[in-house]
Amino acid sequence: MDVSSFLGAKAQRTDEALDRCLASWAGAPALLVEAVRYSLFAGGKRFRPALVLGTAEIIGECDTPALPAACALEMIHTYSLIHDDLPAMDNDDFRRGRPTLHRAHGEAVAILAGDALLTMAFDALGEAGNATVIREVAQAAGAAGMVGGQLLDMAAEQTTPTLDELRRVHAGKTGALIRVSVRAGAMLAGAQSTQIDRLTVYGEQLGLAFQIADDILDVEGDAARLGKPVGSDAARGKATYPAIVGMAQSKTLAREAMQAAIDALDDFGCEADTFRALARFVVERDC
Ligand code: IPE
Ligand code: IPE
Ligand code: MG
Ligand code: MG
Ligand code: MG
Repeated sequence: MDVSSFLGAKAQRTDEALDRCLASWAGAPALLVEAVRYSLFAGGKRFRPALVLGTAEIIGECDTPALPAACALEMIHTYSLIHDDLPAMDNDDFRRGRPTLHRAHGEAVAILAGDALLTMAFDALGEAGNATVIREVAQAAGAAGMVGGQLLDMAAEQTTPTLDELRRVHAGKTGALIRVSVRAGAMLAGAQSTQIDRLTVYGEQLGLAFQIADDILDVEGDAARLGKPVGSDAARGKATYPAIVGMAQSKTLAREAMQAAIDALDDFGCEADTFRALARFVVERDC
């Protein structure tokens, strides 16, 4: 299956399940539900749910056991974007092709919508009924994962970290959720530990390639295609791959991570072909 059909199919499955999750927020204030829907159903790529569901399919030929985790990862990711865009953080005005949530509804609503998404994610994940997966997702989303990476990203503004330090920022803020998406999908489908180990390397390298590509797109991308501003990193003095090692080296390193991700799938057969193509998509994408 080609990458865009794969992403489209998994996005549709995820969106239907997310819609069912939101329908269970019966007692929530209408404004909060509206704010969450505004950010959640705004045309994101659903890359993390696709990884969760795709991994489950590679292992178990059926993605259903992984559907709650796919929803949870997209909720956590969307919350991270809402908070990432806040004035206290990246201070961006545009996301997923529309004004950022704090622009549309104010900062308090944006903060609370993020909080609601994060807690709802763990409610959804509880449905999968696997305590190990719940803990792994919590760790990946939290202080030693995405939140920690966001702290390091903010602290690195206007500084020149080493490449190792920058890799650590990227592994936290973006890599952790991508890595755990793959691991959660594998675990929920009953993968063997050797399979999980190989897929973990795939997820780690894919996550690095994904954020280097994101940094490159902030320089060379098209804001209309991306649905978010370009030039925002340079304006804030962000420590990005292009800023630290230059554009040519950034592209080389993104391709090296892509190849390492593909190589990690060597023990798998044609059932992993879509994931090989997905790694290429990550560095070749324009959105
Ligand atoms: C953007 O993620 C933020 C990063 C972690 C790089 P995506 O590029 O997956 O954004 P959406 O979900 O498609 O909007
Ligand atoms: C975002 O990194 C990482 C998280 C949201 C956790 P960026 O700040 O580079 O993402 P964009 O470019 O705003 O999407
Ligand atoms: Mg940021
Ligand atoms: Mg940002
Ligand atoms: Mg970026």
